[in-house]
Amino acid sequence: MTGPAQRDSLLSANDNRRMFDRIARRYDLMNHLLSLGLDRRWRKKAVAMLAPREGGRYLDIGCGTGDVAMEVLRQGPGSHVIGIDPAAEMLAIAERKAERAEAGEGVTFQAGDATELALADGTFDGVISAFCVRNITHRARAFEQMRRVLVPGGMAVILELTVPGSRFVRFGHGLFLRCFVPLAGRLIAGGGTAYRYLADSISDFTEPAEIGRMMDDAGFIETRQIALQGGVVTIFVGRSP
Ligand SMILES: C[S@@+](CC[C@H](N)C(=O)[O-])C[C@H]1O[C@@H](n2cnc3c(N)ncnc32)[C@H](O)[C@@H]1O
Repeated sequence: MTGPAQRDSLLSANDNRRMFDRIARRYDLMNHLLSLGLDRRWRKKAVAMLAPREGGRYLDIGCGTGDVAMEVLRQGPGSHVIGIDPAAEMLAIAERKAERAEAGEGVTFQAGDATELALADGTFDGVISAFCVRNITHRARAFEQMRRVLVPGGMAVILELTVPGSRFVRFGHGLFLRCFVPLAGRLIAGGGTAYRYLADSISDFTEPAEIGRMMDDAGFIETRQIALQGGVVTIFVGRSP
């Protein structure tokens, strides 16, 4: 399902985990900086599409440092969220955030992989994944797993960085990715390679329409996509039948 260009930038699961472990400490800062603070707004919007409710169960796949899971609790007080991620250092930061927010039993973070969810069928009212799908080699399998764990009618929301459709916006976006992102990664996060990977993984990411098709193939219904900021970011939504 992945084209040759994607295979060029994708890392093995182990290398991916090691990379996120390495950049974990500066991850939030870099996110806010590189998105000019818009990342918070994008996550809020994605969670609003999930529409979490009291008593609902939600899964955050590739939860990283936990911002999406915490936003689910904010928008859906009384809901329960499980965040999974293979990178232990990212999870450690997520756990500290939950402690500081006194989230208690509202949120649980655990090690896990999107393509092999060790979770029962039909147990979540919603699944959300932010900026993670791009890093996954076997995306089709990840989408199948998302659908498997959803209750009938449950909602999947994917937030991802994408390449804008307009040639003009794409030009500026390409310059930003190729020049500014790796430089900021080297200077601030001490990891130029990781941020060069970020730039490559965005440029090589599958066309938004193809992600929609993958969701259809995985059995989602009512799939649609919402482009934000001229397509720099896209939210993909689908419902379990
Ligand atoms: C760019 S971060 C996004 C973190 C968080 N969702 C956010 O909104 O900031 C991508 C995360 O996906 C995780 N990840 C990568 N491959 C994964 C996989 N196969 N299954 C689950 N998570 C994965 C990484 O460890 C990393 O924490």
